[in-house]
Amino acid sequence: MKFIIETYGCQMNVADSELVTSILLEAGHTAVCNIDEADLILFNTCSVRQHAEDRVLGRISNERNRKKSNPRLKIGVIGCMAQRIGTELMQQDLGIDFVAGVDQYDKLVQIIDEHDQNDYLDFDENQIYDYIQPQHQTGVCGFVTIMRGCNNYCSYCIVPYVRGRERSRPYESILKEINNAVHKGIKDITLLGQNVNSYMYQDMNFAKLMKRLNNETGISRLRFVTSHPKDLSDDLIEVMATAPKVCEHIHLPMQSGDNEILDKMSRKYTIEHYLRLIQKLRSAIPDIAITTDVIAGFPGETDSQFKNTIKAMREIAFDYAFCFKYSNRDGTLAAGFQDQIEEQVKLQRLQQLIDIQRKSTKQKFESQIGKLLEVLVEGKSKQGGKQLSGKTRDFKICVFDGEENRIGQLVKVNVIRATAGTLIGEQA
Ligand code: 5AD
Ligand code: SF4
Repeated sequence: MKFIIETYGCQMNVADSELVTSILLEAGHTAVCNIDEADLILFNTCSVRQHAEDRVLGRISNERNRKKSNPRLKIGVIGCMAQRIGTELMQQDLGIDFVAGVDQYDKLVQIIDEHDQNDYLDFDENQIYDYIQPQHQTGVCGFVTIMRGCNNYCSYCIVPYVRGRERSRPYESILKEINNAVHKGIKDITLLGQNVNSYMYQDMNFAKLMKRLNNETGISRLRFVTSHPKDLSDDLIEVMATAPKVCEHIHLPMQSGDNEILDKMSRKYTIEHYLRLIQKLRSAIPDIAITTDVIAGFPGETDSQFKNTIKAMREIAFDYAFCFKYSNRDGTLAAGFQDQIEEQVKLQRLQQLIDIQRKSTKQKFESQIGKLLEVLVEGKSKQGGKQLSGKTRDFKICVFDGEENRIGQLVKVNVIRATAGTLIGEQA
């Protein structure tokens, strides 16, 4: 079949779509870029907030019309939403042929061939897909999954219910995947897990994993997401400070700046602990960029508790923050909390967070002016002309004029200007 995968949500889903692409190509199916040519459309879905689910439902209802002109067309839903509400999706008249959960991708080839509409949603707590080498999108940056699932049960979060228990991938298969990616020209790898800091394979923890990958692979840059503040170790900070391939960037979700809210979120750290981590990171790695996730309007959040979040954001001055409005997810602990916050208040608080972050991001970008930075060129910039675009080691977009043959290379660039989200430079 000719297939296309539409991917929603986090980088883990992007990596899973690469995995699924590999599985389908291996079985003789063909990937197409144009949805008009497809006779299999897969939606790889996200459940983290209601909005993400609503978007996909809208897309499915649009695409099912294609079945009138193409009776061969199959529509499959995979990923977190399949796992969460797959059975209901199959019962509704949505034109969906099958749903497959996150641990069922190795059966996709059979599932596609089945004539009966069905759902495949069993969890397999050992499933890590380490025998499949994912089809990395061509380019210069790639994702490598090192763990699946999550054991943390933050009270707002659906992830542990849709991705199952935490499991770590064997070192050897991670190494092999990175070496394959290097061979294909990939220079920048992001290691993925819901909480990479709790990676443990035999006696190898995450700090040791990073150190070994730094020493044993030919990759130019190594990154990782996501870190949980309760598990970020001094050893890892030491590795970040000393291993040359490990980039000067950490994504460290704060979620709230208020201890009572952090406790109700079951985050298992205090804001004082979080601030200490920031201090340690900044003193060990002076040029580090720190990004975060913050939630506005968690159940019961008072004005003064919200002010503590604002205070923390101002004090820390993140390079970037993904700010979210709390979304109630059925089945999570917080969904049962009585004191849900009014939509209007949530929206207003979210806007305040976004405004604060915008100023902080602008300052961080402007503070780069005058610096000589290493940029990994990813492609031509959207502006066209001779402008190239890439990322600095600390994950900022940088554009500069240069020849197309620099794509895929590490180039030294003098930063001369900055806009809200882009550095503008000149090749040194
Ligand atoms: N509502 C709003 N944001 C959420 N996140 C996770 N669950 C929810 C929810 N129910 C956010 C957290 C997490 C990021 C990936 O998504 O900030 O770090
Ligand atoms: Fe969700 Fe918390 Fe697990 Fe992150 S660590 S995926 S926020 S439960």
